[in-house]
Amino acid sequence: MPALQKQGPTSGFTLTEVPLPTVAKSDVLIRIEKTGVCGTDVHIYQWDEWASRRVHPPLVIGHEFMGIVEEVGEAVENFKPGDRVSGEGHIGCGHCYFCRTGQGHICRQVQIIGVDRSGCFARFMTMQHGNVWKLKPEIPSDVAAIFDPYGNAMHTVMAQAVAGKSVTIMGAGAIGLIACKIAEAAGALSVSAVEPNPRKRQLAIDYGASAVFDPTQAGWKDQFLAATPEHVGVDVVLEMSGSAPGIRSAFEIVRPGGEVALLGIPSGDVGLNLSEAIIFKAVTVRGINGRLMFETWYQCERFLLDHKLDLMPLITHRFPFHQYKEAFEVLERGEGVKVILDWTQA
Ligand SMILES: NC(=O)c1ccc[n+]([C@@H]2O[C@H](COP(=O)([O-])OP(=O)(O)OC[C@H]3O[C@@H](n4cnc5c(N)ncnc54)[C@H](O)[C@@H]3O)[C@@H](O)[C@H]2O)c1
Ligand SMILES: [Zn+2]
Ligand SMILES: [Zn+2]
Repeated sequence: MPALQKQGPTSGFTLTEVPLPTVAKSDVLIRIEKTGVCGTDVHIYQWDEWASRRVHPPLVIGHEFMGIVEEVGEAVENFKPGDRVSGEGHIGCGHCYFCRTGQGHICRQVQIIGVDRSGCFARFMTMQHGNVWKLKPEIPSDVAAIFDPYGNAMHTVMAQAVAGKSVTIMGAGAIGLIACKIAEAAGALSVSAVEPNPRKRQLAIDYGASAVFDPTQAGWKDQFLAATPEHVGVDVVLEMSGSAPGIRSAFEIVRPGGEVALLGIPSGDVGLNLSEAIIFKAVTVRGINGRLMFETWYQCERFLLDHKLDLMPLITHRFPFHQYKEAFEVLERGEGVKVILDWTQA
């Protein structure tokens, strides 16, 4: 079957033929239809320092997907061929303290599809049935393919109360933009976004932000604070840039006693002064990892079924799988927000 593979410790991917996966008794074999390309895939594509430490080629990459059940293992009762599905790409070990206390998202032995084990950028993928998610017919396939980043946004927004609060999204990339809409739908009093890319600032406004700020402009933080009640900052900052300046800024624009949720992943030390940034300000900080299994998935489904948000405008590009290079290029150039690869062509 065709698959996009990292074949060795250099940049790029290879579209190649790999053997069909075997279906273990608790597995579901999924015929992949649509996949989302994520920043993580771009890191693996470019083979940066993180990728070279974490990923062991040869590996089929990709973790955002939807498809159709082709076959199920003998122990699988809750899925049948023809079911439309997506799935949670973080595979917990199933027997550790975290997995057994409903915290599989922080299992220490977690394996991520397309990072630690074979991924979804292929004609077929197998997944243990406990991680597979049956899709409601109302949910469009392109949207179903991006439940993974949608779930990251949902998990981050829902990690603290946002109703009646002022909320700022630091970094209006794919996940930050989705978070703007979720925060608005979840009753935030105001949603603002900080983002250097002008196209994404405009999208943030389209997506529910009432104000946007450009962090490359001198004096933006003073303007930001001046626009908040008592000029003390916002109640909640959702850090979704993963950049060191973005993370430091998050603590400068949150009000004393406010809350910061950290989703973005910095590549190294961020040089944060803990005394000034957190301790004297009495800021509550939360690290956010993945999605809650499966509370976040139910929330994501509910928001769509209740028409609280439409993710279609964020899908800026679609390519057949064999044009994967174009897909990665539009993301590298910062033009794309969510880019879909279509695996339904021969
Ligand atoms: N913790 C997790 O489980 C988890 C899961 C998925 C993604 N992530 C991380 O979340 C972050 C967001 O993911 P994404 O897919 O939306 O990435 P993205 O690249 O689409 O978005 C990041 C955005 O931050 C903006 N940015 C850069 N510098 C900034 C600054 N100084 N201030 C404000 N904004 C700035 C960029 O222009 C970009 O639009 C990444 O760091 C990613 O690695 C974490
Ligand atoms: Zn992803
Ligand atoms: Zn575990």
